[in-house]
Amino acid sequence: MKPITLYLAPMEGVTDFVLRDLLTSQGGIDFCTTEFLRVTDKLHPNSVFLRYCPELQTGSKTRSGTPVFVQLLGGQAGPLAENAYRAYQMGAAGVDLNFGCPAKTVNRHDGGATLLKSCDRIFNIISTVRKAVPLEIPVTAKIRLGFDDPSVCLDNAKAAEDAGASHLTIHCRTKMDGYKPPAHWNWIPKIKEKVKTIPIVANGDIFTVNDFIHCRQETGCDRFMIGRGIMSDPFLFNKIRSHLAMEERIQNHATESMAQEIQNEWRVSSEVMQTFFDRSSDYINGYFATSRTKQWLKGLALRSKEAKILFDEIKVIKNPTEFRARLNQSL
Ligand SMILES: Cc1cc2nc3c(=O)[nH]c(=O)nc-3n(C[C@H](O)[C@H](O)[C@H](O)COP(=O)(O)O)c2cc1C
Repeated sequence: MKPITLYLAPMEGVTDFVLRDLLTSQGGIDFCTTEFLRVTDKLHPNSVFLRYCPELQTGSKTRSGTPVFVQLLGGQAGPLAENAYRAYQMGAAGVDLNFGCPAKTVNRHDGGATLLKSCDRIFNIISTVRKAVPLEIPVTAKIRLGFDDPSVCLDNAKAAEDAGASHLTIHCRTKMDGYKPPAHWNWIPKIKEKVKTIPIVANGDIFTVNDFIHCRQETGCDRFMIGRGIMSDPFLFNKIRSHLAMEERIQNHATESMAQEIQNEWRVSSEVMQTFFDRSSDYINGYFATSRTKQWLKGLALRSKEAKILFDEIKVIKNPTEFRARLNQSL
């Protein structure tokens, strides 16, 4: 099973420095993202970056060591690239681009979800930012399914991939859906058919461990972003981690008991092989018995490691007495 990566969602007015610090200190979160920093035509001074992401003073990590990405929001590729470069210079662990914000003021000023109407603009913004910052830091993107039409997620996701996004988070709703449940996780497998080279992070409506399990089943993802779930259950990330650890224990136990079962079976099978050899010898002769026993052993070798070792050794023996003696040693 692939390891699962869990992201704390950026939430303006919620997941600020204090909450990020507190939540990541409990464990379970692999990455955080700042609240969005709006970019118009200006390069923000360092002080603004530090206000949104005080973690830039500590290697872009929370005190418990969880990396924090700086999220930028805007519609102009040039200024976004300049600000992304500044984030890089200040040591950001990554830059995330917001294409999902539904706020009317933001959309009116050509930012957030309004950009989902044009895959060319998404491509242009991501590729310009990607080119502006060295490859050593990830440039990621976060989209909704669309502005009003969810089907545009396919072209938008492809544009993000072609532009060089390091990963793509999908909040599985359109802008028009707002936060109305349910999140439409069913779009993610369709996106994954088109976008094969970058990881997809599933986001939306994971409030419980059961939601996580269903989202994983429906999307086939191994990366998940969780936002509002932490407000109703601050221990959700750890509960998911405990569930995953339990799954792994069950899986390991099942593998061990299956291996043990095959080994026990082999002990019985090798006795049967000897009886089979003796009876076949009596029935026709030792040469016939040798050839028949090899034939059966070859079949057993497909399942049992011990049978395979014995078969590889015994297959060249032609003399029945020698063959029988070697068979005897296998017990
Ligand atoms: C109060 C609030 C503020 C948000 N602020 C941001 C933001 O700054 N950047 C962003 O990309 N998404 C933002 N979002 C969207 C969340 O990151 C997430 O995509 C959405 O809540 C769905 O995930 P959830 O069901 O796990 O909450 C915000 C959501 C809420 C509820």
